Amino acid sequence: MNAKIQQLRGLLQEISDLHYISSLLGWDQQTYMPPGGAEARGNQLALIERLAHERGTSPELGKLLEELKPLAATLEPDSDDARLIKVTARDFEKATRVPSSHIVEFTQTTTLAQQAWVEARQKSDFSIFRPHLEKIVALRQEYASFFPNFEHPYDALLDDFEPGMKTEEVKTIFDSIRPKQVELIRAIASKPQVDDAFLHQSFDVSRQWSFGEEVITQFGYDWKRGRQDKAAHPFTTEFGINDVRITTRVDANYLNPMLFGTMHECGHALYGQGVAPELERTGLERGASLAVHESQSRLWENLVGRSLPFWKHFYPRLQQVFPQLSGIPLTKFYKGINKVHPSFIRVEADEATYNLHIMLRLEIEIALLEGKVLVKDLPDVWNGKMQEYLGVTPPNDEKGVLQDIHWSGGMIGYFSTYALGNLISAQIWEKINLDMPDLNEQIRSGKFEALLAWLREKIHRHGAKFEPQELVQRVTGSKIDPAAYIRYLTKKFGEIYDL
Ligand code: CO
Repeated sequence: MNAKIQQLRGLLQEISDLHYISSLLGWDQQTYMPPGGAEARGNQLALIERLAHERGTSPELGKLLEELKPLAATLEPDSDDARLIKVTARDFEKATRVPSSHIVEFTQTTTLAQQAWVEARQKSDFSIFRPHLEKIVALRQEYASFFPNFEHPYDALLDDFEPGMKTEEVKTIFDSIRPKQVELIRAIASKPQVDDAFLHQSFDVSRQWSFGEEVITQFGYDWKRGRQDKAAHPFTTEFGINDVRITTRVDANYLNPMLFGTMHECGHALYGQGVAPELERTGLERGASLAVHESQSRLWENLVGRSLPFWKHFYPRLQQVFPQLSGIPLTKFYKGINKVHPSFIRVEADEATYNLHIMLRLEIEIALLEGKVLVKDLPDVWNGKMQEYLGVTPPNDEKGVLQDIHWSGGMIGYFSTYALGNLISAQIWEKINLDMPDLNEQIRSGKFEALLAWLREKIHRHGAKFEPQELVQRVTGSKIDPAAYIRYLTKKFGEIYDL
């Protein structure tokens, strides 16, 4: 291997390790750390993040990347090394534009803002959070100003989560699906509602846990390279491709959070466990983007886990574990888990309404950044859009503008990745079905090896080598296209609600 590439890999290994240490501290914080550890943990995390940023913007790395330019031009463009140089140079260029004083101020502001958000949400009082969010919006505007080369200020923010993606592209995609999704929800609302009362009863917590483990073991989650713990807000994290951990949440009186939460996080983890070993500790072992990551979690949660073939296989087993379901026929169960019901809370939203929650946030974020909406007006703007898109108005700020943690952490530019993930999942699904005509048959028999192998080959192993649009194009033959998702929703809910 070229000596300079080797040198680059050496520098990147240490940066990767610092990020993994930070992730490990974060994992502990959200699973086992006692509340008293919060302050010390905050200091430790801040130190590691600072060290990682220093390494990631060091003159040594900059000089090396400069020296590697001529070599990069001679490499096969899709090779690991060519991509490694390209992605690292890109990250370096972005990171060095941000002064460390901005990072310090951002960290301090968001630490306080998160505390204020918790209090504001508890008291359902937006005014407690408002001054903090005003500072955060100003800081995000400042951040965008460090990147004058982007067409729209929001591009700079979006680009951190979806490399190469433009605000205009996302807007166009969302504009094309919004009327169709609103129309679908109205059509569903005009039909008799399905019954899901049987999902809301007492389900033994440890039996739920074991059932979830059984399902994801069958999906192919590798327990020798992972583990599952409890967390209030489930997440997946990794400390290398051989240690990819998931968390889940179990509600003793409602089956859905464990069932679909476990499958969702497993979908993220299968991606992490499936990256090619050659990419380990290079920074390329992360996923292509948040949207591509979310496409994997959604694929296992929804396309697989909320499908009829899946439950043809697993429902008898679930009834064995929970005999209280023995009187509920499969079709009734299937309709129940797919109930469409416009709700206030995004994380509880069904497949048909979910994207509307995201569109509302994207529109608000863009308007905030452009200065067209002021923070003080947010509760009203929020409630107005909820009424317009979903036909419901939150009774208070806790169930409205204060429901998500993201803005308190400064993560403006993040939300659209959730909806894009849904779209990509359906687009990939159509392609898989073309390549594997007996996919439904396999799922009905509880067989997932071929599906996982397909995802590994086409998506997982590449890590972050390709930008999201590039990857989707390579896999499906076109860029992110919402048509597949609309086809999927229309067919599925047309059958369930007899539209
Ligand atoms: Co997710």
